[in-house]
Amino acid sequence: MCGIIGYYGKDGKAIDVILNGLKRMEYRGYDSAGVAFSDENILVVKNVGRIKDLESKLNGIERIFDIGIGHTRWATHGKVSEENAHPHTNMDETIAVVHNGIIENHAELRKQLKEKGYNFKTETDTEVIPHLIDFHYKKNNDGDFKKAFTDALKELIGAYAIVAIHKDENRIYCAKFGSSPLRLGVSKSKDEIIVASDRLALIGICEEEQILENGEIVVISKDYEKGYNIEDFEGFEIEDILRKVPKDIEAITKGEYEDFMLKEIREQPNTIRTAVGGRIEHLETLAIDNFPDLPREISRLILLACGTSWHAGKVAEYLFDEKTGIVCQAEIASEFRYKRPVLFPNDFVIAISQSGETADTLAALKLAKEKGCYIGGIVNSVGSSIAQTAAKGVYLHAGPEIGVASTKAFTSQVAVLTILKAFLTNDDNYIKKLKDGFSELPSKIEEVFKIEEQIKDIAERISGFERFLFLGRGINYPVALEGALKFKEITYRLAEGYPAGEMKHGPIALIDRETPSIFILSGKNEYYEKTMSNIQEVKSRDGRVIIVTDDKEALRKNGCLTKTDFIIEVPRIIEELSPIINVIPLQLLAYYSAKFLGWDVDKPRNLAKSVTVE
Ligand code: M6R
Repeated sequence: MCGIIGYYGKDGKAIDVILNGLKRMEYRGYDSAGVAFSDENILVVKNVGRIKDLESKLNGIERIFDIGIGHTRWATHGKVSEENAHPHTNMDETIAVVHNGIIENHAELRKQLKEKGYNFKTETDTEVIPHLIDFHYKKNNDGDFKKAFTDALKELIGAYAIVAIHKDENRIYCAKFGSSPLRLGVSKSKDEIIVASDRLALIGICEEEQILENGEIVVISKDYEKGYNIEDFEGFEIEDILRKVPKDIEAITKGEYEDFMLKEIREQPNTIRTAVGGRIEHLETLAIDNFPDLPREISRLILLACGTSWHAGKVAEYLFDEKTGIVCQAEIASEFRYKRPVLFPNDFVIAISQSGETADTLAALKLAKEKGCYIGGIVNSVGSSIAQTAAKGVYLHAGPEIGVASTKAFTSQVAVLTILKAFLTNDDNYIKKLKDGFSELPSKIEEVFKIEEQIKDIAERISGFERFLFLGRGINYPVALEGALKFKEITYRLAEGYPAGEMKHGPIALIDRETPSIFILSGKNEYYEKTMSNIQEVKSRDGRVIIVTDDKEALRKNGCLTKTDFIIEVPRIIEELSPIINVIPLQLLAYYSAKFLGWDVDKPRNLAKSVTVE
């Protein structure tokens, strides 16, 4: 939800560094963007649309700058318009501010400021910030911008990462509070400093970084020996603890791929290897390194997540069956936090999140923490808010996931949850089975890529339809949910995920020639034959079917195959790992269908990669 950046540097590089940083953070929001630079005056340039459009607008500007700020927006308050795009300024246009988060008391502040004579140009919550700073600055006789900045912050209620500049100050002012992330990046020579919502904006310039904590203010200026100073709202200096920034440029570029989504889908053999690592061989390290002091008697595991991460949690619900003696509940975080949940101190509560910044997941985790539960995280983004709040857990180390549609994070989450079951149940047979399964999993994923052309062909044939059903049972029911989510978010077609057995209780009414049903059918289990009956039910109503299966022969024998069906045959694997295999053709089906429709798969409309607002 919005990406912000501030650059303090040299050689007139501000425009390039800021645009580059915004491009890398564009996944956070991409309905409009803007920049502001400071020299004698503040120059603000904004645009509705993508960073590349903003770049074209900036091409005509001949001036060079060493200091500037930038923003890429995902609209919350106020429609998508140039006016509402950040940076926002005070009335004299001497102060410019970019903000990520929500100012909860903006209506009240707006009213007070209006009474003092301030005119507002936008519908945003953010616009109160430059006016408020202006008010405090003028109250101090234009003397102390830092004091004005801090005084303004003290009046704000909500979540914010803010970066501000003033035309007369050769400085950048930043602050962080609540769930909006902000990182400080420092170059080796210390003459280039960046603050940004994501590490991606630092890579290639800054070798060291610090994740800013709640209530920290950073002033960037050559007046400080280090180039910056960190303090709290009361002015007490805070010691910095800089960490190395990984140099992995490859991880944040598309390389040979047309889109990040395809790159990330194809990375899955490797990301699975990393997620599993030596973990399955050394389960005892999970107790020492990842979940220290975990209560011995765990009877309930609660998984908190949103979207795709929730679907990974739903897979775990099926893993923890009656034999494990552990009840596993996957809860949608935005519901859980408001349903006054019954929580016990011996509940083991884990937040699952790719970004580690999802506001609802974070809030639900904090609730469990307050109730005294043992909490942890399964997170991809290192040092993110959820990782920090959980303070314990497992990192996926899947590398940056930039495509808005989550792919590799899902399969890594499922892999880690499968290992978590092995850890919590300590069942030797299961552990042995998993070891064997995991050892062949990456090569079986590679096998799915061999039928990519066939999936592409199916995508071409079906992408013209308007609505789709995704159906699966048992551990593959969450895969149906995930297949439908992937499909709808990037093709903008209506796609519903349903348990196949539930079809006759309603969704079957949708079946016709124009509504393809995608079935996921794998593993020999007690509902295998029943799912085949569901396939027949669709066919007898003239419905088209696409079947993802590991046993084409069984379908044939059952008279379940006709010439017009589309079969996607995937390699067989143990049932526990089948969601990881089965989801891959669905990711590809969504990807190619969206490509045939001409959509931007990496940045689907109305979405943002990390949802840091409720
Ligand atoms: O970063 P998180 O895993 O916490 O994000 C949760 C959801 O917002 C996310 O999975 C979303 O549903 C994706 N767009 C799905 O592709």
